[in-house]
Amino acid sequence: MDMFIIRGGRALAGEVTVSGAKNAALPIMAASLAVDGPCRLRNVPDLVDVRTLSTLLRELGMSVTRDKNGDLVLSTSNDSPFVAEYEQVRRMRASICVLGPLLGRRKRACVSLPGGCNIGHRPIDLHLKGLAALGADIRVERGYVVAEAERLKGADVYLGGPFGSTVTGTCNVMSAAVFAEGTTTIEAAACEPEVVDLGHFLNSMGANISGLGTPFLRIAGVERLTGTEHTVIPDRIEAATLMMAAAITGGDITLDSVRADHMTAVIEKLREIGVTIDVDGQRMRVRCLQELSPTDCIALPYPGIPTDVQAQLTALLSTVPGISIVTDKVFPDRFMHVSELLRMGAQIRREGNNSIVSSSSQLSGASVMASDLRASAALILAALAADGESVVRRIYHLDRGYERLEDKLRQLGADVRRVNDEPSNVPASLLPQEESGETPLQPPHFTRTSQVTRASTEDSPG
Ligand code: EPZ
Repeated sequence: MDMFIIRGGRALAGEVTVSGAKNAALPIMAASLAVDGPCRLRNVPDLVDVRTLSTLLRELGMSVTRDKNGDLVLSTSNDSPFVAEYEQVRRMRASICVLGPLLGRRKRACVSLPGGCNIGHRPIDLHLKGLAALGADIRVERGYVVAEAERLKGADVYLGGPFGSTVTGTCNVMSAAVFAEGTTTIEAAACEPEVVDLGHFLNSMGANISGLGTPFLRIAGVERLTGTEHTVIPDRIEAATLMMAAAITGGDITLDSVRADHMTAVIEKLREIGVTIDVDGQRMRVRCLQELSPTDCIALPYPGIPTDVQAQLTALLSTVPGISIVTDKVFPDRFMHVSELLRMGAQIRREGNNSIVSSSSQLSGASVMASDLRASAALILAALAADGESVVRRIYHLDRGYERLEDKLRQLGADVRRVNDEPSNVPASLLPQEESGETPLQPPHFTRTSQVTRASTEDSPG
């Protein structure tokens, strides 16, 4: 198991290229199950989640290879498998994205219910409601969703839930509806750019989807999809994370391969608190030229501030003088990062789905533990700004969704090292003094009198 050792206090500077979007690549890879002929995907990040899904797709009869250019080439070698085992699905919730394509193209699917998650309750009732509306027979048996449909029929589907729409639910229903007889409308569809990218991928293979990026989709059923080539959009969440790394360290960085039009809410919010952001096509310069101001921000479905940057924003605002409030209306329990930020000196009080953040004059390095993908990013941001060294453990969370983040941060001048998680690698500054070999804490010196007095008192039990 790896951990990061980070020495804070360096203002980031330089240029990095943002990787492809994890949350676009995953549903697009899953949708390749529904295609006759090979698909070539460019700009797919090399992440643990991508490798996990590749393994699952191979178990479902797909050939998945990376060519010498780094493109992912997927093709169906056997279209009979339809079971996504718990062993794979438990590693990554996004495995549920195979449900819609399997049902649409292979007419049946048996997919393990996704496991629990550190960011809160994550049901799939809307996924199942939408697929049932298309005429699928849906059963939940022994932890698996069993879905069958000889021929899906177009229907009017509503995907609104108590926390807005559903991103992967929209992906599943859209991918299945491509093969339904007649026309399907999806009302309260998710508008995230990653859903739009999946729609563009499907349309490039012969699907007929309109309304992408709006809450109202119309899908006219087709008989088959033919292979295509597709370039995955840049990762707006990685870009936002790097922007906040520049802001929290008072740096000056340039990001390449950024879709600023996918990040309006984040750009607006960072500008509002005082970050200087200059956009030039797919390049973006991020500078911290003034003291930042506190703010209120609410994570909402797109085009609102993404819940996937809420933890990183909380870390940034922990270093900004004044009181800020960070609210998450998508995942009301997504606050596992708070307790670890407190260990670094942040002053945060949780109130329901809000973090009340009062600035900490200076965060201090500490040993902290990542609990989920975006919490690990938040702890790294805090460590970049903290005084002294920090250790961030359980970096496997980070590796699920960020491609070589430590390389990118080092390219920007950060002092960050990936090491094995073992005591000998923990910096002496973070060890309890007796372990560090430095002079251990001395107890207060008692004069003899007080010692005599103390002894006599101790001898006579109270
Ligand atoms: C996707 O998850 C992303 N993952 C998440 O990113 C992201 O946080 C989330 O969308 C919201 O933007 C992928 O795309 C692989 P939802 P998803 O279904 O689709 C409730 C990351 O860090 N809901 O849009 O699982 C749900 O509980 C990950 O990269 C239902 O009630 O999220 C939540 O409160 C974390 N019923 C809200 O809707 C359902 O059937 C949004 O969930 C489905 C969801």
